[in-house]
Amino acid sequence: MKILIVNGPNINLLGTREPEIYGSLTLDDIQNELEDYAKSIGVELVFFQSNVEGEIVNAIQKAKHEWGCSGIVINPAAYTHTSVAIRDAISAVSLPAVEVHLSNIHSREEFRKNSFIAPVCIGQISGFGSDSYKLGLRGLVSVLSKKV
Ligand code: DQA
Repeated sequence: MKILIVNGPNINLLGTREPEIYGSLTLDDIQNELEDYAKSIGVELVFFQSNVEGEIVNAIQKAKHEWGCSGIVINPAAYTHTSVAIRDAISAVSLPAVEVHLSNIHSREEFRKNSFIAPVCIGQISGFGSDSYKLGLRGLVSVLSKKV
């Protein structure tokens, strides 16, 4: 089983970006950790990060037929709170998706509490730092494994 891991804007700056909120791991560190976890459960990952909304839409559109992915774990970052285009892309490709966040978006500024993406996802994991990705992947794989 192959899963697409999508990261949105400014996630490439992890490590130096507001470490008191997002931790000190870089995106590479997080991806290496996740790769190890994925291997241990027999899952292959495709990683994609972009600061550009349309490129994220393109990646979601390619996930199933071009990259052979069965599901998506996505940290849409700031686009969580603004992007109808990413939401529509997830609905359009009808691949199961899980939204993840490093920080707890519900305990921060008011504007972060709304997600345009969560309603078209199986669920949302928020606030566990880099473990949010592992928990999201685990939940997604569990749902996909039950499908016949
Ligand atoms: C984030 C939370 C978003 O509100 C923020 O814009 C981000 C990161 C998180 O992982 O905690 O860029 O998605």
